Amino acid sequence: MNAPRLGFIGAGRLGSALALACVRAGLAVPAVASARAASAAQMAERLPGCAAVAAQQVVDRCDLVFVTTPDAAIAPTVAALQWRPGVAVVHCSGATEVAALQPAQRAGAATGGFHPMQTFADAEAAARSLAGCTITVEAEDAALDALLVALCERLGCAVNRLPPGMRARYHAAAGYASQFVNALLAEAARVWAGWGASEADTVRAMLPLVRGTLAAIESGGIAQGMPGPVSRGDVGTVAKHVQALATLDAATLQSYRLLCDRTVDLALARGSLDAERAAQLRALLAPAA
Ligand SMILES: NC(=O)c1ccc[n+]([C@@H]2O[C@H](COP(=O)([O-])OP(=O)(O)OC[C@H]3O[C@@H](n4cnc5c(N)ncnc54)[C@H](OP(=O)(O)O)[C@@H]3O)[C@@H](O)[C@H]2O)c1
Repeated sequence: MNAPRLGFIGAGRLGSALALACVRAGLAVPAVASARAASAAQMAERLPGCAAVAAQQVVDRCDLVFVTTPDAAIAPTVAALQWRPGVAVVHCSGATEVAALQPAQRAGAATGGFHPMQTFADAEAAARSLAGCTITVEAEDAALDALLVALCERLGCAVNRLPPGMRARYHAAAGYASQFVNALLAEAARVWAGWGASEADTVRAMLPLVRGTLAAIESGGIAQGMPGPVSRGDVGTVAKHVQALATLDAATLQSYRLLCDRTVDLALARGSLDAERAAQLRALLAPAA
């Protein structure tokens, strides 16, 4: 398939962004569908040479179909359509097994997973942020696998492999680099709110810090790139933190203790903490302390 015709079913955040990025990479997206005709029409408008059609027509007119509905709608959407040998269908869900596409496979279609490890909100911004991302590709069929890998290269993305049966675990892990970052900054904002700082104040002050940490991880790795008092074996500073947070709510102190305890492992791996000070820190961070 030198010039595959790509189709999309599901005109949401990911579908719109991925289709736009594909078109900008010189690929043809002749047909899109969605639950609501208006969504499909809006998506098609942004894609030169694309028509908003019924889902079955996407299958009939395209070589590779992306099912970009919400996760729960993937299996019923695929089961309701007529598939044929020679066509391929993939979903873009991190947590859903490729087996959700079995009805298409039984009809002779090749099936796979194509999960971009990126957050998609606004289609335009998301399409621009796709290059440089990693896309997890999973396909038993060798021709489809090669096509998906070529597509990643065309989009400027790196390829990650995943064996079958691992998607829920893999997707749970991705949360540490996405929504858990929000949860961590929410913890910081809650503490800052104690002296009247706004969320905007916290975000403005913390974002450069987050970026600095990410840069250190990029150059040194997770353990070597870790900043902070635990990495320096500074037991006294951690004791001050625990004491200060103990005057706030129990949940804030609990999450600080848990996360700080994880950093002890990293500092040991980094070689910047000896066993004695690690034991002191662990005692300080234990819930009974
Ligand atoms: N957003 C992300 O950051 C992200 C990142 C990686 C992977 N993903 C994966 O990408 C997929 C889509 O997620 P999303 O965030 O783009 O969801 P979304 O913004 O909610 O969009 C899903 C779209 O699917 C359409 N839809 C719903 N049921 C349908 C059906 N039965 N048939 C056809 N279209 C249907 C809806 O269209 P209408 O507007 O017509 O109602 C909606 O616009 C999911 O599998 C998700 O796990 C998302």
